[in-house]
Amino acid sequence: MTDYHCHLLPNIDDGPTTIDESIEMAKLLVNAGYDTVYCTPHLIKGLYEADNNTVKTAVSDLQNALNQEKIALQLLCGREYFLDSNFMKFMSDLMPLENTRYLLIEFPPHTYPGMVQDTFSALIRKNLIPMIAHPERSELFHEQQSTAQPKKLSKLKTFFHLPHLNDQSSFTPGKRDNKLLTWLIDHHCAFQQNLPSLLGTYGEQAQATAENFKRLGIYTHSGTDAHSPEGLIKLFGQHEP
Ligand SMILES: [Fe+2]
Repeated sequence: MTDYHCHLLPNIDDGPTTIDESIEMAKLLVNAGYDTVYCTPHLIKGLYEADNNTVKTAVSDLQNALNQEKIALQLLCGREYFLDSNFMKFMSDLMPLENTRYLLIEFPPHTYPGMVQDTFSALIRKNLIPMIAHPERSELFHEQQSTAQPKKLSKLKTFFHLPHLNDQSSFTPGKRDNKLLTWLIDHHCAFQQNLPSLLGTYGEQAQATAENFKRLGIYTHSGTDAHSPEGLIKLFGQHEP
């Protein structure tokens, strides 16, 4: 099992501050059934600015530490990009999830659909696949029931080879059309669910949206988005000694 979104590296963003904490998180992840984890530290101009080489070195160092501890967890490189006005500055040196074309991107509050569409179109032209980090947390998808047609879901199922996607599912018509969601599905974007969302960790709207996305089979990937051992204990419980 793979965790596609995790702040496992020490001292690089708002994740663990010591390598001991990272190792504790790794043990918890293994105990929960993971064998592979993408290390996806934030890249936010003015806040978390570690460059790609720093991330690669940190992944290699932590992997060596885990190997020494005989913790069977494969670490892969990634980043969590932030879709603000500074994002374009990173366009020339983007780091997708290792060995994939997926670029993990979170939406800041108050992002507007036009910015998402313009930026994602540029990424798609670069042969990348935008992967939206925890879309259920974005207000763009809150309290909005899409009127996207079932055929869109069929296209998604075909593209991502999603046997779990229920062709009979249909979006419930709501107050507003969610044209952005339809556009993202049409453009084969990926949707990464945060597992804590289903527990209500980010509030009722995120939880309701996560349940809706899950029911409709929109999610293509999942992640813990863990930042600490405590976060993983809340999600999975304590690891075995
Ligand atoms: Fe994150």
